Parts: sequence; C-alpha cells; structure tokens
Amino acid sequence: MPAALVGTPVAAVQQGDFRVTPVNGLHQQARRLRRSLQLLLASLQDAWSFARGSGLLNDAPPAVRAAHALKTMHRLEKGWALPDPRAGFGQATAQLLSRQLSEHEQSSGADWVWLQGQATLQRYRAYANGASPAQLSEPMQARAVQHNARQDFASLVRSRRSVRQFTGDPLPAGCLERAAELAAQSPSVCNRSGARLWVATTPEMRARALQWQDGHQGFADRAGAIAVITVDPSVFHAVGERHQAWIDGGLFAMTLVHALHHEGLGCCCLNWSVTPQVDRAFKRSIGLPPFESVVMLLAIGVLPAHYTVAHSPRRPLSEVLRTLECYP
Ligand SMILES: Cc1cc2nc3c(=O)[nH]c(=O)nc-3n(C[C@H](O)[C@H](O)[C@H](O)COP(=O)(O)O)c2cc1C
Repeated sequence: MPAALVGTPVAAVQQGDFRVTPVNGLHQQARRLRRSLQLLLASLQDAWSFARGSGLLNDAPPAVRAAHALKTMHRLEKGWALPDPRAGFGQATAQLLSRQLSEHEQSSGADWVWLQGQATLQRYRAYANGASPAQLSEPMQARAVQHNARQDFASLVRSRRSVRQFTGDPLPAGCLERAAELAAQSPSVCNRSGARLWVATTPEMRARALQWQDGHQGFADRAGAIAVITVDPSVFHAVGERHQAWIDGGLFAMTLVHALHHEGLGCCCLNWSVTPQVDRAFKRSIGLPPFESVVMLLAIGVLPAHYTVAHSPRRPLSEVLRTLECYP
C-alpha cells in the first residue's frame, strides 16, 4: 500500500477516491474534454505523419518505390510456396516487377533490392520455362526444422519461416495452451498484459474468422486453427498510450509465433490491414468485443514431412543497424 494510504480505513480508500460530487463531476467533465481534444490533435498528427512519411500519397521517393518492388517480388515468391499454385500464374506480376526494377535502378542503382528482384525474375523465367513451383521455393524437412526449433535461441529464430503448406490435421492437444502460456510471458507496458488470444478450430469458425482477411487464400483452409491476436484497450489511459496496443500486441505475437515453432507447428501471420468498417464487421461476425484492437490473425497448422517456403531475403545488416551520431 502506498505510504500516503497507510492507516486509511480500507472502505474509505475504496469509496473515497471515486465518490462523485458536483465539483469533482465538473472536474471530470473538463478532464474528459481536455483529453478528447488532446487525442484528436494527436490523431491528426499521426495521420499527418503517416501521410507524409509513407507511400500513401506519394509514390515518388526511392524508398517507397523499393517497397513496392519488394511487395511485388513477394507476390511471386509466395505464389510458388503455396500448396497448389494456379497454373501459369504471375505473368502480369513479373512484368510489373520488371518495370519497377528498371525505375528503381534509375534512382537507386543496382542495390540490394534490385539484386533480389533480378533473382526473383530469374526464378520467374525458369517457372515460365517449365520449372515446378517447388523447385523455385526453399525446400524444408519437418524433422530438421523441428529439431532446430528445439536448439539454442539463434537456431529457433533462424529456422522459423512462414509456413503456407499444412497437412490439414487438427493441432495436437495442449500445444496451443503451452504456446499461449509462453506468449503471455511477453513484456507489456507497466505489465498491463492487455493481449488476448482468440482461437477458431472448427471448420465453420475458421472460415468465418478468415472471411474478411486478404492474404490467406490458397493455404489457410488447411490450417488446424486460426488465431486472432487482440489487445484489450481498457488497460490504457493516456493519449501517449494510443499506439501501445500495437506494440504490446506485436511483442505477444512474436513470442507466440516462436512458441508455436518451438512446439513443432507451422504458422503464418495474416495481416489485419483493413478499414474500420471491415474491422467492425469482422468483430461482429465472430463475436469479438467491439473495441479490442486486432493486431493480426495467425494460421497455425501441422507440418507435412516435406514442404517449401517462399524465398524471403532480408535487408543487409548495414541497412538495419545504424549508429546514432552526436552532432555539436
Ligand atoms: C503482420 C504480418 C502480416 C502478414 N500477413 C501475411 C498475409 O496476410 N499472408 C501471408 O501469406 N503472409 C503474411 N505475412 C508473412 C510475411 O509475408 C513473412 O513474414 C515475410 O515474407 C518473411 O518471411 P518469413 O516469415 O518466412 O521469414 C505477414 C507477416 C506479418 C509480420
């Protein structure tokens, strides 16, 4: 108990702070109004900063163009790692990538993005000349992956990949509970622990959970479970905490993904990049509390003995790790 409250009768502490008198009722109203305005202003600044910094309104900056090219590459690479890619897919995507890379080379030269893009185009040419999708993705063996996921931390992290090929079997008993218990060990701001994990296992509920998601097509129907990671916003109180759900939820999600991998399961994060209308319709259709923040969905499934994953090269460390310089 805080020093100031020592010796105060418990009943007074429980009731006294929250008693509403006309005076503190006015205070509360004024505080609400002030906070609402602060939130509105902060949200406008968020919108301004996203509009200025992202590629939402301006496609011209080289970094934005590079991100478009990376996304196009991923569409091809992901397609080849699906269990049953549509025959002959990708022609228009490969043409788009080729154009994006030429433009990118003009502004940024033959950098890492350009080189990765050329490698993807080379794989596309092989595909157009008859190579099978499996030859163009990274081959995986479940036993080796599961072994590595049980070794040291570096092996766990390096052997995790987004899996888009599942057996279609139900998840073994207990694995979700163990993984969720580990995910709940993730740090959260002031230990407020707002993350929640909702799981759909029946075919009907899985289909319902997926109906509004764009990015699961061609593989998630064979997942044993579809999870929805949310954060309960009632644990936050300040304007400065308005993004905290995404941070705490993201940390929870990462631990969960690693824990599922450690359990020997495969999983693939599924984006929840949707409009507020879709978000509302989704929550209504699966019975989620209307104000919980949906961080992402997750397709979780049993690994086949042999499968492939998409080439997903990472940026060189020199682009990721930067030194802060002190200027006089
Ligand atoms: C928040 C988030 C959302 C994602 N959404 C999707 C998705 O909707 N569909 C999909 O197939 N992959 C999705 N992914 C998986 C990424 O494509 C994948 O993590 C990335 O290409 C790196 O590959 P790796 O996970 O195999 O290392 C998502 C990943 C994250 C982190």
